[in-house]
Amino acid sequence: MTLSEAEKTQLIEAARSMVEKAYAPYSGFRVGAALMTIQGNIFTGCNVENSSYGITLCAERAAIAMAVATEGGENLQIRALAVVNEADSFCSPCGACRQAIFEFGSDALILFQGVQGWQEKLAKELLPEGFSLNCSQDKKSN
Ligand code: THU
Repeated sequence: MTLSEAEKTQLIEAARSMVEKAYAPYSGFRVGAALMTIQGNIFTGCNVENSSYGITLCAERAAIAMAVATEGGENLQIRALAVVNEADSFCSPCGACRQAIFEFGSDALILFQGVQGWQEKLAKELLPEGFSLNCSQDKKSN
């Protein structure tokens, strides 16, 4: 999917606006994310940490939960998603978030700071052969 420069800026700014809401007392790594649906609606999220470290929710998945809670999962198609951290430094979506994004938009454009600066990659490029129950069922019936 392609986005205009204005849409990219809008999405990145929406992600930045969420950083202050992050609950990250353990890592100190505050993250904000914003996604745009194919209808053009924007949903945001931040990371939510916990004393039981392993149940921490990443910003990307928090944004997806907001979108599903508002629009319904059956209707959700992600067009693009931006993720940023407080320092505007390296913040590549983790593996779990790549799979979560893939569920709602394998063609979604992901905007993030990679090792070599700003990156714009499709979800399916960040997660080749992402898991889909539909695909695995297709393969079985072939
Ligand atoms: N984090 C995210 O919110 N998104 C990512 O894609 C990478 C990591 C959060 C989880 C945790 O609260 C903190 O960053 C440090 O790992």
